[in-house]
Amino acid sequence: MARKIVLTSGKGGVGKTTICANLGLRLSNLGFRVVLMDIDIGLNNLDVVMGVENKVVFDLADVIAGKCRVKQALIADRRYPSLYILPSAQINSSLRISAENVKSVVNMLDSSFDYILLDCPAGVDEGFHRAVYAADEAIVVVTPHISSIRDADKVLSILSTYNLSSKSIVINRVRGDLLLSGEMISVEKIAELLHAKILGVIPDDDEISTLSTLGVFASSSSGARAFSILAENVHNGSKKVYDCTQKYKGLVGLIRRNIKRRV
Ligand SMILES: Nc1ncnc2c1ncn2[C@@H]1O[C@H](COP(=O)(O)OP(=O)(O)OP(=O)(O)O)[C@@H](O)[C@H]1O
Ligand SMILES: [Mg+2]
Repeated sequence: MARKIVLTSGKGGVGKTTICANLGLRLSNLGFRVVLMDIDIGLNNLDVVMGVENKVVFDLADVIAGKCRVKQALIADRRYPSLYILPSAQINSSLRISAENVKSVVNMLDSSFDYILLDCPAGVDEGFHRAVYAADEAIVVVTPHISSIRDADKVLSILSTYNLSSKSIVINRVRGDLLLSGEMISVEKIAELLHAKILGVIPDDDEISTLSTLGVFASSSSGARAFSILAENVHNGSKKVYDCTQKYKGLVGLIRRNIKRRV
């Protein structure tokens, strides 16, 4: 049976799709069979982030409409043999897709995978419900900004009304230089404010911005290290926290901080 984890946030643009893609990549790197499901119907972009948008033949809506079998809609990742993407509907067919429909597709995939990661759209309306209803666990993505923290708080309280076995947070876009200078709220404070368990901390990494068409971190980057820790925490329940300040400590770190400030 697969673990079914939804990546959600309330606020848009905080990194749900990025985290879904990179976590999936790292979990498959650990040898697990992983499928990434794009539930952002109409505004789908998981296929773009994973670089498979030209390979889409069938999508979630086709599976639901019975136009193909679920396996025909799955796209294999070119890097990892055990990583698959199930693209969302390319046109806005959200009105025709119910939460029950999504759950039935998730159930079709259940026995073939170890992890089903559901990439949820922004907002807390029907699209949110469709994605969360099919999941057993939720990861709320939050950035160290007041608007994101407020939305995460609302989302965590809405998630309490669902039958989920776990809820945790991933803090994305953390700037180690600003943490050291005291200009960014600490990850511990965010967890305290949200009364939530930190599952992962991901640095703000310029490399991912430059790779905007392929939002997956290069394996040597600090982001990749942070995602490996996140994957370990997800898989074995460890509570390791990636230290975003590490590269800004000491003399070299001080120089880096000064350079970053001028950019
Ligand atoms: N840790 C990071 N460092 C640098 N850039 C990042 C990071 N995380 C996300 N981004 C960038 O932020 C932008 C938004 O990310 P993403 O699309 O994953 O957000 P989202 O929450 O899925 O958005 P939406 O709500 O629209 O679905 C992308 O350009 C992505 O490359
Ligand atoms: Mg997204």
